[in-house]
Amino acid sequence: MKPTALVAGNWKMNGLAASQAELEALGTYLSDGAPADCDVLICPPFTLVAAFAANAADGIAVGAQDCHTNTSGAHTGDISAEMLKDAGATYVIVGHSERRADHGEGDSLVKAKAEAVHGQGMKAIVCVGETEAERDAGNTLDIVLGQLAGSLPDAATAANTVVAYEPVWAIGTGRTPTVEDVAEVHTAIRSALVARFGEAGNSFSILYGGSVKPSNADELMNAANVNGALVGGASLKASDFNGIIDAYRK
Ligand code: 13P
Repeated sequence: MKPTALVAGNWKMNGLAASQAELEALGTYLSDGAPADCDVLICPPFTLVAAFAANAADGIAVGAQDCHTNTSGAHTGDISAEMLKDAGATYVIVGHSERRADHGEGDSLVKAKAEAVHGQGMKAIVCVGETEAERDAGNTLDIVLGQLAGSLPDAATAANTVVAYEPVWAIGTGRTPTVEDVAEVHTAIRSALVARFGEAGNSFSILYGGSVKPSNADELMNAANVNGALVGGASLKASDFNGIIDAYRK
């Protein structure tokens, strides 16, 4: 089975109740524009998940940006996968580099979070990516494939898991790897998925993330083994996000 293309917006710690206007605008773009050959997902902050899930137009899935490994309990300030499902989420991002860096999350925790997401019948978007120092030292593939091996549960399938390659140095910087570099990493991820999961590894969607914008989306989305985008800054405005979705309107 061919991977499903997905254009996903990660709003990070941005968005207030009034931001629902952008969700509505996105719905209008999608219904008025040419059909896009991709799934569309918005991951707002926790505070907006329920409202977005209740109000998103047809064709827009809603997800969250993190979850706890447990279903409930004494974990002040945390949110469980079950709560997110209850709020209407269908995807949860796990292992984003900002979680790995700001909260010290390692591969085994990321894997446990992905399992918690799977346990609720949702899809986990598992993020991997090298820092600039790691790339400069020539360790990109070792780092990325190591994170992938440690963060993906054995029960991962194309139906419950999406992989996102996000070079840390490209996030929010306006810098992107060359298309050749993106293709090299995505092709290495694809090979690792096939080595681990057999032929089924060919069906996983592998997203690229890091300074994706309307002006570079077409080129990046057409790189080998790129099956969509995980978009930060440019997902906050419906017009920009729609301009990225354009890469799948042909
Ligand atoms: P930017 O698109 O703002 O670079 O962020 C990418 C990202 O981290 C998405 O998860």
